[in-house]
Amino acid sequence: MAPPFQRHVFVCTNRRPDGHPKGCCATKGAEEVRAAFKSELEKRGIKGQMRANAAGCLDTCAFGVSVVVYPEGVWYGGVKTEDVPAIVDEHLVGGRPVERLLMPLMKKAPKPEAGK
Ligand code: FES
Repeated sequence: MAPPFQRHVFVCTNRRPDGHPKGCCATKGAEEVRAAFKSELEKRGIKGQMRANAAGCLDTCAFGVSVVVYPEGVWYGGVKTEDVPAIVDEHLVGGRPVERLLMPLMKKAPKPEAGK
């Protein structure tokens, strides 16, 4: 049995029929995003330690392309192929989620101003 991956990336590649009110990640470039993850992991020689898999609908369709990284459970939204190197370098390798790409549900609430 293979050892557990240090980090595991799931990319929603769900496809719905044209005109579906929820839309889908497939029409927003999900397959290309998944391929970019696989390619970037291979380039860095870490594909045995980390893995990128296709996933079905992650129920965050409005924010697609939806990506979630475990074990942290960090969610990224609107991911494009050009965002993938930053996620790989900063999060998968560096351990720091890429704040600018986080899904709204992951963003920290602004701190209240002092005295208010
Ligand atoms: S279709 Fe991708 S999250 Fe639902």
